[in-house]
Amino acid sequence: MMRQAGRYLPEYRQVREKLPFFDLCQNVDAAVEVSLHPFTRFHPDAVIVFSDILVPLQAMGVDVLMGGGGPRLADPVRTMPDVERLSLFDPLEKTRFVPDAIAALRKLVGDNAAVLGFAGAPWTLAAYLVEGKASRHFEKIKAMTSRNPEVLRELLSRLSKMTSDYLEAQVDAGADAIQIFDTWAGELTARDYRAWALPPAREVIAAVRKKGKPVIYFLTGTAPHLDAMAETGADILSIDWRMELLDVRRRFPEKVLQGNLDPAALLGTPEAVFAQTREMVSSMGGRGHILNLGHGILPSTPIECVEAFYEAARS
Ligand code: CP3
Repeated sequence: MMRQAGRYLPEYRQVREKLPFFDLCQNVDAAVEVSLHPFTRFHPDAVIVFSDILVPLQAMGVDVLMGGGGPRLADPVRTMPDVERLSLFDPLEKTRFVPDAIAALRKLVGDNAAVLGFAGAPWTLAAYLVEGKASRHFEKIKAMTSRNPEVLRELLSRLSKMTSDYLEAQVDAGADAIQIFDTWAGELTARDYRAWALPPAREVIAAVRKKGKPVIYFLTGTAPHLDAMAETGADILSIDWRMELLDVRRRFPEKVLQGNLDPAALLGTPEAVFAQTREMVSSMGGRGHILNLGHGILPSTPIECVEAFYEAARS
């Protein structure tokens, strides 16, 4: 599941009572403990390190706050001087806690599970930096594509360099695979996706693949962008919940696909979750498929529905 750990788990909420969100991300022992919560309960085949896609932006010198309404930036990035203030950093210094947590997880889970590292893709990180928060229409960054294309190009180029370094450090620390979240790229027109989101995502993916580890590439609103997603060079495409996985399989018979139960389906009855999950697994024939949700798990998800998801997978 995406956001394997998180607010649907009482043990996570308990840790969060003591630690603010980004303190939790930076505290290796606490981040490892939280990463293992879902592993201990449900025994999935992979453990994702607990962190957030905004963590490396803080290391670039950006002030990010995590409040009730999601993340917020004190000073959005809109001009060339703003972009030039974003510093590239050594991930083993500024964000050492991430590779350290990955190395600890690699030891702790041994052969029982894969350990996943992750990062946001450049377009999605740029969307946060320019808008200053999660956005509905992405007015500022979309306007920038014609009003300030040089600034946007420079921003994406810095983010792509930063993210490649950041992920290489995660692979060196022992990550078995990397997931790249391009959550907001699906909001682009097919043409703009190719012009703006695809090239920097491809660069980051190539950097990880050069290190010999597979890449899972995720976005929401996959349908219009499938061909382009396949051109990123990712080994595995993560498909959102809107599409029938089998239709995607027919178009890309050789691609490994990840997904794609609707996270909101987990709010239904455990019986319905069980049936829908089983149906999805059998439709894919147990081949070239990583069972997952189509997007992050919702905080109000009942735990018995999560259990039904895992039981269906194992059955
Ligand atoms: O799965 C895991 O256990 C790894 C942890 C993880 C988190 N964020 C923890 C988190 C991962 C992989 C992410 C990625 C992430 N963060 C994405 C890409 C995935 C996606 O959801 O599309 C994005 C866009 C973000 C940015 C972000 N972080 C948002 C929008 C929010 C607010 C979420 C909300 O529903 O309010 C966060 C906070 C966040 N990141 C939480 C967790 C567990 C909840 C914060 C809390 O504990 O208060």
